[in-house]
Amino acid sequence: MRNDQNITWHHSTVTKKDRQLKNQHKSCVLWFTGLSGSGKSTLANAIDQKLFQQHIQSYVLDGDNIRHGLNKDLSFGANDRKENIRRIGEVAKLFVDSGQIVSTAFISPYQEDRQQVRKMFEEGEFIEIYVACPINVCEQRDPKGLYKKARKGDIPNFTGISSPYEAPDNPDLIIETDKTTIEKSVEEIVTYLESKKIL
Ligand code: ADX
Repeated sequence: MRNDQNITWHHSTVTKKDRQLKNQHKSCVLWFTGLSGSGKSTLANAIDQKLFQQHIQSYVLDGDNIRHGLNKDLSFGANDRKENIRRIGEVAKLFVDSGQIVSTAFISPYQEDRQQVRKMFEEGEFIEIYVACPINVCEQRDPKGLYKKARKGDIPNFTGISSPYEAPDNPDLIIETDKTTIEKSVEEIVTYLESKKIL
């Protein structure tokens, strides 16, 4: 028996709309996707700081951190990456329901997995940001020394080396971190949020 057979959805008394009205901004997920070392966490934290300074309810979910806790049972095989992204999608949905802007920084290498998460949200709530950076630049940066280890064969299924990365076909925003500054990228995201009347 599936465990959802005897449970029913309890509608909250305070709605997402109520929370958004109180916060004076809408809620959404900024879904950063890109190779390891492309700059996802840096950008997610930079936009979070900017929003926080403007008294906007904002939070970051970061791959490396979440894999220490909620998702510490998951590996880097395709099925576990799928589950990783599914769980993050569910957590991000709770944040959006709570009226916040949540930035997620996960490689999320598979189009289909990201597509599945998009489907969990209302129109306009899921904003896919492709953090584009050539792999040779990511490899030069190698902030955690992982590319070096992966080239030696010490890390199996390493994205971009021994495991695929499927770039988004139609992302809402593309940030080329080898060509632009963090400040400009943050401005671009803020402008996007304003143009969509989220802020
Ligand atoms: S995802 O592919 O499932 O979305 P996630 O973003 O959670 O990945 O975790 C990626 C981080 O885990 C990388 O930034 C890196 O620090 C670390 N890591 C460890 N092993 C791997 C691997 N095989 N491939 C990619 N990243 C790995």
